[in-house]
Amino acid sequence: MQTVLSGIRSTGNLHLGNYYGALRNFIKMQDQYNCYFFVADYHSLTTHPDPKMLHENVKNVLTEYLAAGLDPEKSTLYVQSDIPEISELYLLLNMHAYMGELAKTPSFKEKARKQPENVNAGLLTYPVLQAADILIHRADFVPVGKDQEQHIELTRKFGRRFNNFYGVEFFPEPQAFNFGTNLIKIPGLDGSGKMGKSEGNCIYLKDDPKTIEKKVKRALTDQGPTEHNQEKPECIENLFTILRVVSTPEVVGYFEEKWNTCEIRYGDLKKQLAEDIIAVTSPIRERILAIENDNDYLHKVAKLGAEKARESASKTLNAVREIMGFKAF
Ligand code: TYM
Repeated sequence: MQTVLSGIRSTGNLHLGNYYGALRNFIKMQDQYNCYFFVADYHSLTTHPDPKMLHENVKNVLTEYLAAGLDPEKSTLYVQSDIPEISELYLLLNMHAYMGELAKTPSFKEKARKQPENVNAGLLTYPVLQAADILIHRADFVPVGKDQEQHIELTRKFGRRFNNFYGVEFFPEPQAFNFGTNLIKIPGLDGSGKMGKSEGNCIYLKDDPKTIEKKVKRALTDQGPTEHNQEKPECIENLFTILRVVSTPEVVGYFEEKWNTCEIRYGDLKKQLAEDIIAVTSPIRERILAIENDNDYLHKVAKLGAEKARESASKTLNAVREIMGFKAF
């Protein structure tokens, strides 16, 4: 059976971008594949989070994984920092990752621009840690959103380089995965870019219906179309992009038609959009509220996940150590 792996950074609550870019696919894949899904808490350290919030954020992601439908019996659900083998593989892979290539990674450049006062080495080697996450279970598929494509490409490069350097066929080449279609990007409600925690333009799975209505109502729009079949400006295209993932084709068709004939009323579009988002998030939110304080359950899930993940991870790490020439006395 082929292996699937993916993770989400623990920097807060999960939003619609995380859900449609990644989490929904995790849920769909767990019946057909050998799945590993984890909470990327080490990756959250590059921004120096408040230690008081660290565990809370890990707990949020684990809770929301479960609430959205990940099944700890079917998949291996774990916390990255519970698996020391990942850190060791990261160290080993770092010896074959080069300053130049890491420094020119677009995600590094972007983060360095955003936090010029804290361009730490963890930020530079972020893709190596991500490669270690993926290669430690020798994953074949990695369900992710569009923004992670380059990291998966780098993982393939590091895996290939390891294989070539040591003359082995050990690491498979993992592919970014979205059920045969293009990886997606969910835009924010502020008219540009992607929905993201640091952009402050998110709808969270945990938002209550009133909050969602308010956020959608406030989304940026323009004056409206003046010519039939006019191209949509980015802020309107963004609302349609979200509508396409949460609504039925009929609803999307209806509003497309209204746009094309210049009869669209943004108030109606937003009302429908909010309603359809609420229909998706409400059942998840209810389950979040039901399990977020069940520490025994969360503890059990994390413990079981760590056991299963370490079993697989230690097999890979032992093989890597042997390939590289480590021997016990
Ligand atoms: P992170 O935590 O930023 O995002 C988690 C997942 O959500 C997707 N995503 C989006 N997809 C579509 N539209 C959006 N607006 C949007 N925002 C986020 C991301 O593409 C991602 O799939 N480095 C990773 C975490 C990670 C990882 C890994 C992922 C660490 N190790 C190994 C896969 C495999 C990250 O920061 O994702």
